[in-house]
Amino acid sequence: MFYRGRRLRNNEVTRGLMRETHLHANQLIYPIFVVEGENIKNEISSLKGIYHYSVDRLAEVVKEMQEVGVKACILFGIPEHKDACGSQAYDEHGILQQAIRKIKEIDPSMYVIGDVCMCEYTDHGHCGILDEHGQVLNDATLPYLQKITLSYANSGVDMVAPSAMMDGEIAAMRQILDENGYYDLPIMGYSAKYASAYYGPFREAAHSAPAFGNRSTYQMDVANGQEALREIAADIDEGADIIMVKPALAFLDVIKEAKLNFNMPICAYNVSGEYAMLKMAVEQGLMKESVIEESLLAIKRAGADMIITYFAIDIARKWKDEQN
Ligand code: PBG
Ligand code: ZN
Repeated sequence: MFYRGRRLRNNEVTRGLMRETHLHANQLIYPIFVVEGENIKNEISSLKGIYHYSVDRLAEVVKEMQEVGVKACILFGIPEHKDACGSQAYDEHGILQQAIRKIKEIDPSMYVIGDVCMCEYTDHGHCGILDEHGQVLNDATLPYLQKITLSYANSGVDMVAPSAMMDGEIAAMRQILDENGYYDLPIMGYSAKYASAYYGPFREAAHSAPAFGNRSTYQMDVANGQEALREIAADIDEGADIIMVKPALAFLDVIKEAKLNFNMPICAYNVSGEYAMLKMAVEQGLMKESVIEESLLAIKRAGADMIITYFAIDIARKWKDEQN
């Protein structure tokens, strides 16, 4: 006698009964890049199929999301003016603040998450304030992250997601939100965010590559798994409502550990480099399109409850077409 796994694989119904992992459009979050100017919808060269939108054309992408049932987005702003302290990031008329107000006006039920960081807004491209030697100052950065958070909240954002990897950022943001009556506004921590080469296409898209050096004094060493658990524990302690692992596909072990060690909602960020690789491979006919769903399913199976992915609209459209 031996194990006959094929008995339940022989029939589509039993395969359906056996299926352990399910993905649904309402578990996906779509990243949107917003630029200044008018009448802009330009494909991003590093991210085929993903666009820079000006505020006046955001209705187009919101409509696409509505049509396929993607109910949440995360916004990244690309300002025209950058300076040492990223002042456009907390300007009430800044690009992100305008975008938040616009999307909530188009569709109040569209869930809008604001990425809280400084790298797109600083002229040096780092995620915080620098000292005279070019070191990113942790504690001096926190009040800026608070200002950004409050201005997003005042613009009507539904959730904030700090990605700067400054220690204490969640606590600082929770404090400013609570002081201003935003008790119910959740924080999603980019808890285990690695200093990864997979962000390459994003940095081109967001014009946010550091002008000198790299981010390894604040983002995590890609070699470390145990450290991720300490970062996650700290974020939970500071009041994070959702914890995140980023990138996703090269860090499935970390997602799994997070799932096993913490009873918390987990988000995985399927980042720009992961998108670009698969997109190009499919386009060139090296792999079948199903590699996309396979990859997203792997992230879910590892333990993610929700996934931020540039594939959100495409995959949700595919599911919708299959139903019809
Ligand atoms: C900003 C930020 C980055 C990403 C999300 N927020 C880039 C970085 O840290 O350099 C990467 C997302 C992606 O690659 O898709 N701190
Ligand atoms: Zn940053």
